[in-house]
Amino acid sequence: MMKVMIVRDYDEMSRRAAEIVKEQILKKPDTVLGLATGSTPLGMYKYLIEMHKNGEIDFSNVITFNLDEYIGLSPDHPQSYHYYMYENLFNHINIKKENIHIPNGVAEDLEEECKRYEREIRRIGRIDLQILGIGVNGHIGFNEPDESIETKTHIVTLTEETINANKRFFKSIEEVPRRAITMGLSSIMKARKIMLLASGSNKAKAIKETLKGRLTTKVPSTVLALHPDVTIIIDKGAASLLTDEELANVELTD
Ligand code: GLP
Repeated sequence: MMKVMIVRDYDEMSRRAAEIVKEQILKKPDTVLGLATGSTPLGMYKYLIEMHKNGEIDFSNVITFNLDEYIGLSPDHPQSYHYYMYENLFNHINIKKENIHIPNGVAEDLEEECKRYEREIRRIGRIDLQILGIGVNGHIGFNEPDESIETKTHIVTLTEETINANKRFFKSIEEVPRRAITMGLSSIMKARKIMLLASGSNKAKAIKETLKGRLTTKVPSTVLALHPDVTIIIDKGAASLLTDEELANVELTD
């Protein structure tokens, strides 16, 4: 059963999430972390940096795999997920560059890049702790709602909803990339532990669908109900549409 933690606000969500990451690294210093981008995990990354600076976390043996990257944005593009990760986490902790993995959105052969990324994940084994945000349409990574979804690392065409949601980071909607490379649901579901974060009432509908107990590729996050160890940390806003029906499907924890 999925565990759900309903917390006061964004800051508490971020702090609780960082504590879980810290515990994981203390338990297993060579933890393989699956990392997400977007605005949701920013607060968690701030706490992790602070914990590292206080000597509470050593990242020297940690390995990371990012979920996704926009196609066409080079690593030095301020809106690329490469740039985001260095700016908001990697530049401030003692992680080794060779332990960082992010799909290359400007690879000459994008199909080959997907295969390479998939091989890299397999070479390491499996992800110990996968951190996820959620799109307003229930996407995880960039696994967008569709009739069917490829399970391995693949190229996706972003939906209008996602392009609209992400345009706030770009000068104009035309600049938002239309395609991305995303880790597949298979690697996400193979992770030993998954932690999904959501904050704000614009995520309430996606969270309600996720907890409904009805699997559909039209809401990719619904697949999480099949995983044995998922913790969902949401604030009051993201929890605002939950009724007894959804809450009966989960284990509330604090
Ligand atoms: C983005 C990312 C996802 C992220 C989601 C939500 O497009 N590809 O990994 O979880 O959409 O983003 P945000 O946290 O900014 O709401």
